[in-house]
Amino acid sequence: MLKKSQKIIVGNWKMNPSSAEEARRIFLSAKKQALKLKNIFIVVCPPFIYLQQCKKLFIGDYIALGGQNICKEHSGSFTGEISVNMLKNIGAEYCIIGHSERRAMGETNEIVALKNRVALSAGLKVVLCVGEKERDINVAYLDFLKNQIKESLYKVERKYIKDIIIAYEPIWAIGSKEAMTPSDIYEMTIFIKKTLSDIYGQEEALKVRVIYGGAVTFRNAEDIIVEGKVDGLLVGHESVNQDGFRRIVKTINEIN
Ligand code: PGA
Repeated sequence: MLKKSQKIIVGNWKMNPSSAEEARRIFLSAKKQALKLKNIFIVVCPPFIYLQQCKKLFIGDYIALGGQNICKEHSGSFTGEISVNMLKNIGAEYCIIGHSERRAMGETNEIVALKNRVALSAGLKVVLCVGEKERDINVAYLDFLKNQIKESLYKVERKYIKDIIIAYEPIWAIGSKEAMTPSDIYEMTIFIKKTLSDIYGQEEALKVRVIYGGAVTFRNAEDIIVEGKVDGLLVGHESVNQDGFRRIVKTINEIN
């Protein structure tokens, strides 16, 4: 279970790797780190098809599994979708919701809000992804972000706030070579906390962890955490690179 003192590192494998054997190797490597390093908590989010085998590879609560998406409906005629109960019953505790790559496929804030409600009321913890496409000189991206957070959390009750992690991911940084600068990340973290505080009040807002995602590597991870003052990282492509991921988590573990 995630402890208050720990930094959270979410590994979003996206649509990788292409074989179960490789998935097993990547997961076992993350598991080894999770067992050893006490200042971090790792959440592995593999493609659905690998969740069951990953679950079979560990017993305990020193690491957790998450889905990369869920269906906004509970059951029924939704070909190709995965329901919240399927995720829960397979042993997942977290779910990434509203990733920009899914939003690009047509997922609106309204759909994201429905998914959040379905996941949270079933007892899953949500890694809610938000982030602007571009930074404009008129700073319209701040209004964009505020609106995205408000709409994505529409009708999400106060009691669930503690189960939400906001992953701030500026879209232009995802999959790119360069992450956002730590000082800009810090600014955005404050802005996100202020937005949450406007919706839920300061006390509740402070319970929400804000993490950063977008081109995180072992080279920039420490600065992002220390100067960006985020509570963790959402790691994409480097999460399926065993050595890269190992170096990221080791670096973060040593900060505390
Ligand atoms: P990246 O992806 O680390 O490959 O930039 C981050 C993400 O999409 O969440």
